[in-house]
Amino acid sequence: MANYDVVVIGSGPGGYVCAIRAAQLGLKTAVVEKDPTFGGTCLNIGCIPSKALLHASELYEEAGEKFGKMGIKVGAPKLDLPAMMKFKDEGVESNVKGVAFLFRKNKIDTFQGTGRITAPGKVEVKGADGKAQMLDTRSIVIATGSDVARLKGIDIDEKRIVSSTGALVLDKVPERLLVVGAGVIGLELGSVWRRLGAKVTVVEFLDRILPGIDGEVCRQFQRLLEKQGIAFKLSSKVAAVDMSGNRLKAKVEPAAGGPAETIEADVVLVCVGRVPYSNGLGLEAVGVKKDNRGRVVVDGHFATNVAGIYAIGDVIAGPMLAHKAEDEGIAVAEIIAGQAGQVNHEVIPNVVYTYPEIATVGKSEEELKEAGIAYNVGKFPFSANPRARVNLETEGFVKILADAKSDRVLGVHILGPDAGNMIAEAAVAMEFGAAAEDIARTCHAHPTLPEAVKEAALAVAKRAIHI
Ligand code: FAD
Ligand code: NAI
Repeated sequence: MANYDVVVIGSGPGGYVCAIRAAQLGLKTAVVEKDPTFGGTCLNIGCIPSKALLHASELYEEAGEKFGKMGIKVGAPKLDLPAMMKFKDEGVESNVKGVAFLFRKNKIDTFQGTGRITAPGKVEVKGADGKAQMLDTRSIVIATGSDVARLKGIDIDEKRIVSSTGALVLDKVPERLLVVGAGVIGLELGSVWRRLGAKVTVVEFLDRILPGIDGEVCRQFQRLLEKQGIAFKLSSKVAAVDMSGNRLKAKVEPAAGGPAETIEADVVLVCVGRVPYSNGLGLEAVGVKKDNRGRVVVDGHFATNVAGIYAIGDVIAGPMLAHKAEDEGIAVAEIIAGQAGQVNHEVIPNVVYTYPEIATVGKSEEELKEAGIAYNVGKFPFSANPRARVNLETEGFVKILADAKSDRVLGVHILGPDAGNMIAEAAVAMEFGAAAEDIARTCHAHPTLPEAVKEAALAVAKRAIHI
């Protein structure tokens, strides 16, 4: 029996960050992880490998299409897929090793095995060899994350019908890739394989892509993706996939019902969301409440209904994002240590790492309308930003939504090059309760893309300069 202040189950961005913060605060901390490497979905099969392939495939496309325009003659680039995959794997390895290093540095004990809560304060760890050991602890943090959501009747074999996990390790470029779900994974990984040569069709149940993201941004983004060669079938669903032949045959039906059509593909990527990983943890036995979607129910302090058991990250409600999990990890460690840890869930940026990128924070126009909040809009296109023009990256715009009365920034939406880096400024401004005027009067370096953010802030008061 080992005694701890905190045992964290799961070493993803929620769990490992929580453990480090707990150790910093002087708590005796252990992490239980069932997989052979630390870092969870994000580092092993999510954010990191997908961003490696997005980066490499974007440069591959640029080398073919843009270099010549800038006077760089390299000839037609050739794809070495195994080398690209090795590049991705090395990126993953360095990151997961980094987490192991941080655990050692912070004197955090680690246990490899599946964790199960047998009673408040008791976590059983069962190793791959079937041997179990018991950890005794004051507090338990459930950080078990999420898993792929599946479609009834469509079996993922991770070879021909893949989830994101299989789509990150394909050993050849599929001639035709059928993506089911026009969410973040579908558009990011669809972009990767389109850039590398696949003909990509995306089937989406709703009548729009990227549900939840500002509609105007998504409409323009869809047009740009179509120009790049991705085909969309909206308001449609894949009812079945026939695997009997050399080519997969997907039966695609209108979402509202009606005659089906067949779309052939070499690979089908199923990416229709993720589900919380809350089974097998012993939650029912100890009485920890889950909601109707299997998410662990917590209060504003990440506490479950059972004293001493907390939960964070993908396994609880809210956006399934690594930085949300990380911030909750820090907050819950501080709460357990008796401090006032807190996360402002109103200001969580969301980035889609395609080309161009989408980055948003705060409310969309649709959300403000629905809430009946009067707002002003300031918009500025990258086509009028000098740096974007000289870089040949003029697609997209910045949109700032500000309260009509107070001018307080309520939402910032960017479609454009490097939007993911630019959104940090908006998040800081919103965290400090900034008005659009505050951003407009902040000196921005020239020539930079963030000048478009300043111009959009100026546009809220109808005084943008460069347009
Ligand atoms: P996870 O990262 O899922 O970690 C949970 C860990 O718990 C896992 O290691 C699991 O093995 C372990 N575990 C589960 N049950 C047990 C048990 N009983 N005992 C022991 N261990 C257990 N988010 C972003 O913000 N940006 C991105 O660019 C991004 N890209 C993504 C790309 C893809 C393809 C995918 C799939 C996801 C992406 N995400 C991204 C989402 C992000 O990965 C998750 O939001 C994040 O990993 C959640 O962190 P977490 O700590 O809650 O859970
Ligand atoms: P998602 O929730 O983003 O998108 C799923 C899409 O599938 C939705 O548009 C939905 O309407 C559609 N859909 C659902 N059922 C369908 C059906 N039967 N047929 C056709 N379409 C259907 O989920 P996704 O893309 O799987 O990603 C999971 C999560 O992972 C994301 O919500 C996000 O939190 C996280 N993620 C974040 C990334 C980032 O931050 N850049 C990158 C990748 C994933």
